[in-house]
Amino acid sequence: MTSLPKGRPTFCAIDLEALRWNFRQVKKKVGREVKILSVVKANAYGHGAGQIARTLAASGSDAFGVASLEEGIELREGGIRSPILILAGAYPAQLDPLLRHRLTPTVCELEGLRWLERLARRRGMSLKFHLKVDTGMGRIGLSASEIDSWLSELSELKALKLEGVFSHFSYAEDVGGSYTQNQLKIFRRVLRRLREAGYAPSLVHLANSAAVITLPSAHFSMVRPGLMLYGIHPSPKIADKVTLKPVLSWKTRILQLKGLPKGSSVSYGRTFVTKRKSLIAILPAGYADGYHRLLSNRGAVLVRGKRAPVVGRVCMDLTMVDVTGIRGVQQGDEVVLLGQQGREKISADEMAVWAETISYEVLTSISARVPRIYHSSKEE
Ligand SMILES: Cc1ncc(COP(=O)(O)O)c(C=O)c1O
Repeated sequence: MTSLPKGRPTFCAIDLEALRWNFRQVKKKVGREVKILSVVKANAYGHGAGQIARTLAASGSDAFGVASLEEGIELREGGIRSPILILAGAYPAQLDPLLRHRLTPTVCELEGLRWLERLARRRGMSLKFHLKVDTGMGRIGLSASEIDSWLSELSELKALKLEGVFSHFSYAEDVGGSYTQNQLKIFRRVLRRLREAGYAPSLVHLANSAAVITLPSAHFSMVRPGLMLYGIHPSPKIADKVTLKPVLSWKTRILQLKGLPKGSSVSYGRTFVTKRKSLIAILPAGYADGYHRLLSNRGAVLVRGKRAPVVGRVCMDLTMVDVTGIRGVQQGDEVVLLGQQGREKISADEMAVWAETISYEVLTSISARVPRIYHSSKEE
């Protein structure tokens, strides 16, 4: 059973059984030989990094990927002992905590390589790192096209040990797309040059969720899935390639019901005026919870298994929905903002369309004041 919060009833229910299922789908796609680095940055895409990482570690995740040193430390303090890769670079003042917490830095430019080597040498320490190569994402990473200039610098390293090499796709959800194929080709060329120069990093990784699902030739020795672990397809185009189960449901309860006569305005700015005698439900969730203001007069929620449209502007802490015609509706009724109720469902992808964004942002925008409550669907 999902235990409910004692106070404000707005919370995210996180289904750890769905998470385990999704992890098994990754495993099935990549096979036994390929390691899995679970991407749990941004508080595990809003699901709660500690609990998510512990569950994935118990399921066999080999490593974890975070965005920052702080996120890495949080995982260590949450009991994670597996390797943790900081995906988005490292800074000079971070060397000591990196070493103390056994976190693996990503090197993405030459200056970073040099200071890391200098500082590690000065402390007489050896430090494993992963090298990020830009093969076409146009983001962090040493440019693959400049390999001649940075390959020679690798030979100068004494304190730093090249444990991994990786790159990132910019458009992997375009199944079979030529840009993706070209990135793969460039990455292979980099690996060949490294091998010829005598480097054999044990961890070679490129595949995000889309490539885990559609591109076995990009699996190498490790993959880096994020979104699919949380039960969402990186693109609806590949939804038929693997069955995933959404891990997060976002729920609340009706705070107040208000009958309004025809012609009444609802919320700030009077953007909604009732066209009939209406029953409006006021929900204790708003944009400060991450319920996007673009959902004003556009989104919908589920009440008693039916869709109720958002009416008027979403406020900071409250949102109004029209429940006129939903039979039996009562104050205190469960409301699903995201997830399933009866036969109806609101997916992160649908909410993303309303909010003019992507499912990743929908999930990571759910704010810290919304408690995450963990359960395993099998128990229910
Ligand atoms: C470097 C890196 N690897 C892997 C991932 C995981 O991608 P996805 O969530 O699409 O699987 C991300 C996510 O943004 C990333 O930035």
